[in-house]
Parts: sequence; C-alpha cells; structure tokens
Amino acid sequence: MQAYIVQLPKFEDPRGNLSFLEEENHVPFMIERVYWIYDVPGGQVRGGHAFKIQKELIIALSGSFDVEVDDGSEKQIFSLNRSYYALYLVPGLWRRMQNFSTNSLALVLCSTSFDETDYIRDYQEFLNFGKS
Ligand code: TYD
Repeated sequence: MQAYIVQLPKFEDPRGNLSFLEEENHVPFMIERVYWIYDVPGGQVRGGHAFKIQKELIIALSGSFDVEVDDGSEKQIFSLNRSYYALYLVPGLWRRMQNFSTNSLALVLCSTSFDETDYIRDYQEFLNFGKS
C-alpha cells in the first residue's frame, strides 16, 4: 500500500494551535492545484475513482472523515480527524471518502491541474490499469 500519513508541524498555544506545511519539506510533489470538499450531507460518499498520474495530499482541516484506499489487492481505511495529519496518495489508488462529520472540511493538494482524462472512474478498468 503506497499511501501513508505525513505528520505536519503543530504549535500548541493557549491562544489556539497552529499548523503549516511547506511544499519542499512536507509535500512529496510540487503543488499544482488545491481544492476542498465541504457541506457534505450526512451519509454521502465522495471519490470513488483513481488517478493515473495525479498525486494527492488530503487533510481534514476541520471535523473528520474516512478515506478508504484500495490498491487493487488490499484496502486500508485512514481516519482523518486532526488538522496536522495529511494522507499522501500516489497515483493508481482507488479512494472513497465517507463518514464525513458535520461541518467537516477536506483540503486536497494535487500534483496536477484538473484533467478529467486522468480519472479512472470504472472499478474494473482500475483493476486492469497497469497490468498490460
Ligand atoms: P470529482 O473529482 O469527481 O469529485 P470527488 O472528489 O467526489 O471524486 O469532481 C466533481 C466535479 O468537480 C467533476 O465534475 C469535476 C469537477 N472538478 C473540477 O472542475 N476541478 C477540480 O479541481 C475538481 C477536483 C473537480
């Protein structure tokens, strides 16, 4: 499984905590795009696809949600519930995001600009991807 948690710096402070990330130090790629998912109604699922070349770093900036990561042979669930944990996903991993808490905010840093042709949205196609 080529997905793992990157721990980000955390400055605990009675005035409120602070975390940050730097592309060179904490992100395993050059950031080309950032998007965020918010106002997710209870029970909804996002994702349900893989990318051919895009790398991603996913952070639960607020609230919590689960990311189910599937490499075609093994599935792993990463529960993101701290704003100083980032989940790094290499290309070729099927991901589903679910169990969003109320008011959760998912920040996603991407290595590429948006390209629909980089998506694999069919699970069977995903299983065959890279096999030939
Ligand atoms: P999609 O990636 O399928 O959402 P999910 O995170 O649930 O898998 O994107 C949903 C829609 O938003 C899709 O029509 C494409 C559009 N979109 C963009 O135009 N730009 C982006 O950067 C992203 C992430 C999505």
